[in-house]
Amino acid sequence: MAGTSNRALVEQPVAQSAKKSAKIRIICQGQSALNAMSDRINQAMRQSDDLMKKFYITTPIYYANGQPHIGHSYTTIAADVHARYHRLRATPVLFATGTDEHGQKVAHSAQAQGMTPQEFVDNIVGSFKQMWQRLHISYDRFIRTTDPHHMAAVQHIFSQLRESGDIYLGEYEGWYCVPCETYLAEVELVDGCCPECGRPVEQVTEQAYFFRTSAYTDRLLEHIESHPDFIQPKSRRNEVLSFVKEGLRDACVSRNRMEWDIPVPGDESQSIYVWFDALINYLSQVGYPDKLDEFNRWWPPQIQIVGKDILTRFHATLWPAMLMALDLPLPDVLFAHGWWITDSGDKISKSKGNILDPYEVALELARISTATTAVAVDSLRYFLLRQITFGLDGSFSWRALLARFNADLANDLGNLLNRTLPLVERYLNGVIPEPGPGAGELSDEIDHARTKFEHELVHSDFSAALTAIWELLSSANKFLDTRGPWALHKDAKQVELEAVIYDVLDCIRVVAIMIEPFMPKVSDEIWQQLGLQSAQIEKRWEDCRALKLPSDITIAPGRPIFPRVDIKRAMDQLQAESEEQSEPTAANTISIDEFKQVELRVGTIVEAHRIPGADKLLRLMVDVGESDTRQIVAGIAQQFNPRELLDVQVIVVTNLEPATIHGVESHGMILAAGADEPEALVITDSKCPPGTIVR
Ligand code: MSP
Repeated sequence: MAGTSNRALVEQPVAQSAKKSAKIRIICQGQSALNAMSDRINQAMRQSDDLMKKFYITTPIYYANGQPHIGHSYTTIAADVHARYHRLRATPVLFATGTDEHGQKVAHSAQAQGMTPQEFVDNIVGSFKQMWQRLHISYDRFIRTTDPHHMAAVQHIFSQLRESGDIYLGEYEGWYCVPCETYLAEVELVDGCCPECGRPVEQVTEQAYFFRTSAYTDRLLEHIESHPDFIQPKSRRNEVLSFVKEGLRDACVSRNRMEWDIPVPGDESQSIYVWFDALINYLSQVGYPDKLDEFNRWWPPQIQIVGKDILTRFHATLWPAMLMALDLPLPDVLFAHGWWITDSGDKISKSKGNILDPYEVALELARISTATTAVAVDSLRYFLLRQITFGLDGSFSWRALLARFNADLANDLGNLLNRTLPLVERYLNGVIPEPGPGAGELSDEIDHARTKFEHELVHSDFSAALTAIWELLSSANKFLDTRGPWALHKDAKQVELEAVIYDVLDCIRVVAIMIEPFMPKVSDEIWQQLGLQSAQIEKRWEDCRALKLPSDITIAPGRPIFPRVDIKRAMDQLQAESEEQSEPTAANTISIDEFKQVELRVGTIVEAHRIPGADKLLRLMVDVGESDTRQIVAGIAQQFNPRELLDVQVIVVTNLEPATIHGVESHGMILAAGADEPEALVITDSKCPPGTIVR
C-alpha cells in the first residue's frame, strides 16, 4: 500500500492562478484524508479552470543566433508538460514559444556566415521548429519578433508609453555588453566584464529613451509581497524581493540605430532595445493591441517559464513594470528554473561553445538501447525533468541517464507491462476481463498518486510529480508479485485471477494517462498495447481513477518499449567513441562547418605596448569594427617593435575564448606565419574597414 505523505501540515494554493484559486489546508493523516484532499483539489481545479477557462503558458523566445540546445529544450519540455496536462484536463490551452530575432548578435552571426540577417534567422527558426517537432513539443503558437504584427505592436506600445510619459528621452552613459545586448551599471561588472557572459563591455555615452521602471518599484514590491506564488521557486522570489527593495533603475529602452532591429517610431536615429522588443512577444502573440477579443480570451498567462538568468533583471522587474504602465494584469506565475551545467560547473550555452544537442543524445540513446527514436526522445524528456528538481541546477551525465533508463523505465514501467500482457494472453485469451467483485484493490494507491501528482504539478515540481507515478508503479509491481496470478491460475481461482489482472491493467492505464504530459509517445504506445487505441478510448485526466478500464477489449502486445541497456558496455563504447572523435583523422581534415565556427575579421592595431616582465609578449589594442576595440596579447615582442605595428591591418580570430596571459586579459588572437616562433604577420594587401569578415 502506498504510504501517506509525511508532511504534517501543508498549506498550498491549488491552482496556477494565485488570485483566482482558493487556498486549501491539506492535512495528510491517512488515506481518507488523501481522498478528501484529492476531491477538494479537483473541485478547486475545476472551479479555477472554469474561472480561467484557459491555460496560457509561455517559454522565453530564444535568440535566433545559434542552434537550439539542451538548455532551450529543457524550458520548452517543461512548458510542454504543463500544456499537455491541462489539455488532458480539457482546459483550453495556448502554449506559445518562438524566437528573438533582432539585435547586433544576430546581425554579427549572419555576417560571419555570409548571409543576410533575414536568411540567417529563417534558417535558425527552421532548426528550432524542427527540434520542437523532434522533441514532441506541442506548441500552439510560434512567434517571431520579425513578424510584422509583432513589430507593429512593439512600436505601438513604445509610442503609447512615450505619450503617457513612461518613456522619456535622456542620456545613457555607462557600460554595454554587446553579446548580451545588456546595459550594465559599474557595480554589476565582474572584473570589468559582463557578469553574464564574462566578456569585455563597452563604455558608451548616447542619447537614448528610458522607461520609467523606477516609478513602479513600490507597486511591484506590493504585488510580489501580496502574491506569494507570483515568483517561484521561493529562493528566486527572495532574490527578486531584495533586488526590488534596493529600488529599480529606469531602463534604457533604445540605442543608436543599428541595422537589424525595430526603429523608434518618429525617431529613426534610435532602435528599440531588444529586451523591450522581446518581452512584448507575450502580448503580441495573443493579439495585442488590435485583436482585443483574442487578447482578452487569453490574457494574462497562467505561467511563464524562464531560466534563472533572465528572471530578476527582465521578467520579474522590467516586464511587470511594463505591464503596469500599460495597465494590464500581471502573469499569475513566473517560474525560473536552473541551468544545465557541465561537469566543471559552466552553464551549457552557445557563448561557452559547449552545447549539447538533445536530439543527438536521444539518437545515441536509441542506438545504445535499441529503443525507437520516439521512445528515446521521451526517455530524455523524462530524465531531464525527473533527475533535477525544477528550479535547481543540474549536470548532464550519460551514466545517470542510462541508470534512469534501466531502473525507472525498463524495470519499473516496462517490466510491469511486459509481465502483465502475457498473462492476459495466457489466461484470458488476450481479452481484458470484467473487473468482477474483488477488483479495485489498487484504488487507494491510484488516488494517492493522482492527488500527489496534481499537487506537485501546480508547483511545477515535475520530479516530485513523477515520483508519485513511480510510487504507484512500485505498488502495482509489488501487488503483482504478492498476488501471484500464476498461483491463482494453478488453484483455479478464476474470479480472483481476473480481478488481479484487471487491477494491474487498470493501473497501467492510469499510469499511461499520467505520464502522457512527460512521455507522450510512450503513453501512446502503452495505450496501443492495452488495445485502447484501437478501441478509440480517449485519454482524459478525469479517468485517472480505479475501475475505469473498459472490459472486452483485445490487447495488442508489442515489443518491449524499453530494452534494457548494459550500462558498463555502453559507457565503455561511449568513451571509446569520444576518444576516437577527439583524435585527428588520418588526413587531419576539418569540415567546412567546423571551419565556419572560427570567426576571422580584419583588425587595425591602434595601440601596442610591451608587457613588463614578459619579453615575448605585446599588449595590442585592435579595432575589429562596430566600436569593438579589444585587447589582445600576442607573442610577437621579439620580432616586432610596438611602434611599427600601429595602423597595421591584421587578421584576428574574434570568437576565441578570452584568456589571461601573464596577468593580462586577451580577447582574441592575431594570425602570424611561422611554425614555432612568429615570423610574419598575416596582413591585408589593401585597406579594409576594420571588422571586415575574412572567409
Ligand atoms: N531571447 C532571450 C529571451 C527573451 S524572452 C522575452 C534569451 N534567449 S536565450 O536563447 O538565451 O534563451 C533563454 C532561455 O533558454 C533561458 O532563460 C533558459 O530558459 C534557457 N536556457 C539556455 N541555456 C540554458 C541552460 N544551460 N540550462 C537551462 N536552461 C537554459 O535569453
